[in-house]
Parts: sequence; C-alpha cells; structure tokens
Amino acid sequence: MNSADVLSLCKRRGFIWPAYEIYGGIAGLYDYGPLGTAMKNNIIEAWRRAYTLGEGFVEIDSDTIGPEAVFKASGHVDQFADKLVTCTQCKTPFRADHLLKDKHPNPGALNFEELDAEIAKHGVACPDCEGELSRSEEFNLMFKTTIGPGSAGRVGYLRPETAQGIFVNFNSLLRYMRERLPFGVIQVGRGYRNEISPRQGVIRLREFNMMEAELFVDPNDKTWPRFRDVRHETLRLVPNEPGDKEVVMSLEEAVEQRVVANETLAYFLWFTQRFLIMVGVDAERLRFRQHLKNEMAHYAADCWDAEALLSFGWTEIVGVADRGCWDLSRHIEFSKVDMSVLMRYDSPVEVEREVIKPKFNLMGPEFKAKAKLVGNALEESDPKEIKGDHIVVLVEGSPLKVDRKYFDVVKVKEKVPGERVVPHVIEPSHGLDRIMYTCLEHAYTEKQDKEGNYIVMRLSPISAPIKVGVFPLMGKEELITPAGEIDWTLRMNGVLTSFDDSGSIGRRYARMDEIGTPFCITVDYQTLEDGTVTIRERDSTEQVRVRKDEVVAILTSLLCGSADFVSLKAK
Ligand code: ATP
Ligand code: GLY
Repeated sequence: MNSADVLSLCKRRGFIWPAYEIYGGIAGLYDYGPLGTAMKNNIIEAWRRAYTLGEGFVEIDSDTIGPEAVFKASGHVDQFADKLVTCTQCKTPFRADHLLKDKHPNPGALNFEELDAEIAKHGVACPDCEGELSRSEEFNLMFKTTIGPGSAGRVGYLRPETAQGIFVNFNSLLRYMRERLPFGVIQVGRGYRNEISPRQGVIRLREFNMMEAELFVDPNDKTWPRFRDVRHETLRLVPNEPGDKEVVMSLEEAVEQRVVANETLAYFLWFTQRFLIMVGVDAERLRFRQHLKNEMAHYAADCWDAEALLSFGWTEIVGVADRGCWDLSRHIEFSKVDMSVLMRYDSPVEVEREVIKPKFNLMGPEFKAKAKLVGNALEESDPKEIKGDHIVVLVEGSPLKVDRKYFDVVKVKEKVPGERVVPHVIEPSHGLDRIMYTCLEHAYTEKQDKEGNYIVMRLSPISAPIKVGVFPLMGKEELITPAGEIDWTLRMNGVLTSFDDSGSIGRRYARMDEIGTPFCITVDYQTLEDGTVTIRERDSTEQVRVRKDEVVAILTSLLCGSADFVSLKAK
C-alpha cells in the first residue's frame, strides 16, 4: 500500500477530493466530501471534548484574517519563511530542505550556505527535469491581502496559525477566567500557508485545518496537578541529542532526567498521545521527536513533534511547544497594552524598594508652572532609568532631561499583594488534515476473498463517518419495514447509519468495510419470529444475535468503547 492507494480510495468513496478539479486543480488545495467531512467533524468533536470536558479548557472562534500589526508582533511577517530553490531550466520551485531529506539527518536545521553546500556536495538536481538548481533564498509563507478598498485599505494577512487569535484576546480571556492562572483555551479553524511545493496530498496544504490549544501558565510554576495520575504512563521519545536515539520512558523519568523540560509539557505530550490513539493513530507508528535548537520555530523555547510513520516516512502531525512568554511579550511591546497577570501571594508581603523623591522646593524656579507635572513624572519613574547625573521623563508627551539635583532616591516600605508575571504558553498544535490522513492510512488494510482483493478501513469507531450499516437480508417489504424502524431509531439516538437493501449481503458488508463502518445490523426471517437481529463486527467479521429492542443501548456502548464485542459474544 502507498499513499496513492489511500488517496484513490478517499476520492472514490467521497472522503477527500482535489479542489477545483474541473479547472485542472491547484496544488495544496483539497476538499472534503461527505464521508471526509463527517470523519473530520468526529475527530474535532473528540478533541474538543477531551480539552473542554476533560481538562476544563474554554473554546473561542476568532477571525481568520488579521491586520499587519498582529503578525509583525507575532514575528510571522519577518520570520515565517522556508528556504526556496528553483530549477534554472523548468522554473519549478522546491523546498531546499525537502530535497535533502534522504541525504542529511536534519536538513530543516541547515542555514542557506549549508543547504547550498549540501545540494552541491550530493549533486542534487531538479527532480522533474534534472536541471541545475538556483541558490537557496527565503520565501515568506504568509498570504498577504488588503483589508478595505483603495487607499483606505490596510495591509492584512490570512492567519498562518489560529493561536494569534487567542493571544490578542488574552486580556478578555483572563477576565473571563477570573484573573487566575493556569487556564487553557482552544480553537479549531483554518490556517493558511503559501507552501512552496505541496506534493503529498493533504499532508502539505496551502489552506488547512488546525486544532490548537494554548495553555497559559505561571512561568514560576510549570507543575501540573494531574501529572501525578499519569506519571507511570510511557512515551516514545527521540530527544534532540546526536544520533536521534529513540527511548521509551515514563513521564516521571522523562521529567526527572530533564529529557522533557517540565511536568506540564510532559503531561500534554501524553494527552496528545492518548487523543491520537483514541481517534485511530496506530500506537506502534507514533513517537515524539524533539526539535533541534536551530530547527525550532521563532517563538519556541522547546518543541516536540508527534510524528506518525506514514508511507512518506516519519511525518509531523502535532507540534507541542513551550512558547515561553514570546507571544504575550511581543503583543505587549507592539500594542503597548499590559497583558501581565498578578499572581497573588497568600497574604500581602512587605517589601522595601527605591523610589524617586522630587525636591519640589528647588523645582519651582526652574520648571515654573510645570513644576508639579515634572514632579509627578519623576515620582512615576523607575530609579533604574537614572543615567549618571540626570533622568529623562515624559512631560505632556515630550521628553525632558531633569538634573540629579532636583530629586533624591529614597527607600520606602510597602505592602504588595503579589508578583506581576507575563504568562508562559504551552501549546499542543494539531494539524487536523494530517491526523485524519494518518488515521486513514493506518486503517487501510487489504484483504483477499474468493472474489479477489478488497479493502477494509479499520477506522476507530470514534472517527468512522458512518457508524452502523443497517440491512434487510432481502429487499422484501416484511424485512425492509423492521430494518427501517431500527435505522430510524438509531439515527434519532444520534448514530449515523447507512441503510442498504441492494445487492448480495456480502457486497453490502464489503461496501461498509471499505469506508470503515465498524458495525452492521442485519434483519432476517428469524427477526420476524423471535425479535432478534445480527450485529456484525467489521474487523473480526464475527456476528452475534441480540434482541432488537437492545440494539441502541448495545451499539451506543460498543461505539464509545464502554463495551467490547468479544464479551458481547461470550454472553
Ligand atoms: P512542517 O515542518 O511539516 O512544515 P511545521 O513545523 O511548519 O510543519 P507547525 O508550524 O508546527 O508545522 O504547525 C502545526 C501543525 O499544523 C503541524 O503539526 C501539522 O500537523 C500542521 N501543518 C502545518 N503546516 C501544514 C500544511 N501546510 N498542511 C497541512 N498541515 C499542516
Ligand atoms: N501554532 C503553531 C504553529 O502554527 O506552528
């Protein structure tokens, strides 16, 4: 199996389609069909529930377009770039590091000179026409636009990540959370990146779906209360040490041995792992790789990628970063709005500090009517700003140099309620399209029967778009009617079904297997005699007979994992 097989099934059965196909398509743009949309929504809902119900995060929904100031502050306008090389013959653009994927252990960490040198050393040519490649250059990934018409229009950008929508709303969120840290916020939505050369289906899109969580924590306390409960759980880690050696460690060991920097980061690596396995990523093909220092995004102090093993090789599907105070500090600097948080002590603490005390008696003759204003400005200034024999203060918006003879520096005692801090951010950033593709590829299984090869998608019941196939054994009224009633009851209980009364029962099972439907119910002549139906499980193909009035309860518990088919059979 390769990615073309998976994408071909996705296209044929209505999961994912290349966008604008009637106009020839555009690289990096894909649409979701009915099954893909249902599956995408199932994954979003599982993620949303894990964070909001499970961890108490709140959800917001912010704009996908923003003014330049936001992305200047976030660093994206100046630093969000990949390294581009172009074929000098056919003019096709490529990401320079991607061309070195099999030739260097970490091409993403190389600078321009190093990339050019590696390309020359390995004689890398254009993969399309063998032409010579240009030198590498920077290419910013932001989509630029104008907000508003004509000369009144302002420069704007489509967001490259949903995260900034959370950071710019920080003060409102803090108020909503009653001024307490830690608190977490999630957002699901589109992100846009003008990728240089998108070639791997939905792995690299120019418009894609993100599920991002931003957890605001006290920089002096990165412990996490629920860490204790899961400290013995294990993670498969590739720390950023030479040799890319993989280790399996408990969360506790990882933090104690300082492989993972703190409890909160370790907890959310585990939380990410649990979520990914729940929606259908194969645990055997999942690991966390730490970024090298020179590979990290401009905002990250530490970063671990959840990587899935796909037909393309190990591929990042989630990035879990400690963004430190980068974003809030930058928005404070650029917007001039205070975004610090008062971390209250248990009771106010008396501290001694130095303050500037103006000598009002000497100031009158020098500053005349402005003496009071100058005095106030001095009182508000920090003694650290004194430069030798003077200090510069702002009076009525203009800087004013005030000689040292007009003020003293004195010590005062005061009670302070707490310390003001700029929160740090721990961010699990999920690429929904990559997660979904991983679930599809990991579920893809080829089987053989007497009629030839067929495909079973072993999707997790949580992600599967259709949960139950409902079949009357034959297209006869006396079977169609009770089957229709079961189908309706399931739907009214929130279970998405597919009713099918055409073709052999084997063909109908195969159609459901191919789109990953975990269970099928068949109504047959025995149903009319004793009120029982069969439930068939996709992966084992085993069947069990149950009373039809129990079908909803049984399927609901099978689908949410609170019951399993083996014990149902054993009953
Ligand atoms: P890459 O190195 O593969 O370009 P990245 O390091 O730029 O990815 P992040 O900036 O960490 O990715 O983005 C967070 C998540 O968003 C990634 O883990 C990935 O799943 C997803 N993602 C990023 N870029 C794309 C894209 N172009 N198409 C689809 N998903 C993407
Ligand atoms: N918000 C993480 C990223 O886009 O990289």
